[in-house]
Amino acid sequence: MGMMDDIERVLISEEELHNKVAELGAAISKDYEGKNLLMVSVLKGSVIFMADLMRAVTVPCEIDFMSVSSYGSGVKTSGVVKIIKDLDLNLEGKDLLIVEDILDSGKTLAYITSILQARNPSSIRICTLLDKPERREADVVASYSGFPVPNEFVVGYGLDYAQKYRNLPYIGVLKPEVYTK
Ligand code: IMP
Ligand code: MG
Repeated sequence: MGMMDDIERVLISEEELHNKVAELGAAISKDYEGKNLLMVSVLKGSVIFMADLMRAVTVPCEIDFMSVSSYGSGVKTSGVVKIIKDLDLNLEGKDLLIVEDILDSGKTLAYITSILQARNPSSIRICTLLDKPERREADVVASYSGFPVPNEFVVGYGLDYAQKYRNLPYIGVLKPEVYTK
């Protein structure tokens, strides 16, 4: 049995992802002309998006990574967010763009934004590939958002279920029996 057998349907194809990344990269390049862009990837889900997005950005940029835990291996947010790996770079004078895979309850990004804000960057904005607006609990707004998605568990293009499926080249909906069994 391959990974694809666990996918109910493809929600966003490789081509749609590619086109959206190009569109977001162009918008970011325009907005960050003459600024000190620092793209911050929240590990691990946003790594593939970040790698593609930064190559669609035509202005100079730096990158850094941080890791927080909010989900464990399950599908529901715990509300508990803990820093596992902090950024390496000093944020003073930087125009931060936090790159996320998916904005769900928003609790993770609300927490990350508040701790990074305290380090005096020039600005902070959020770029999320996917957004589940129905699920929002925290007051978080993404300046750049790729696709709204329904309230279903999605995997692929970096997003996981129990650390698997990140290497699928598209975004798919997982068969519910995969996480209920
Ligand atoms: P939030 O704090 O509830 O917004 O959680 C955001 C994080 O939950 C994301 O960065 C993902 O790691 C994870 N997440 C939320 N929904 C999904 C999903 O449908 N598939 C995979 N991961 C998800
Ligand atoms: Mg994540």
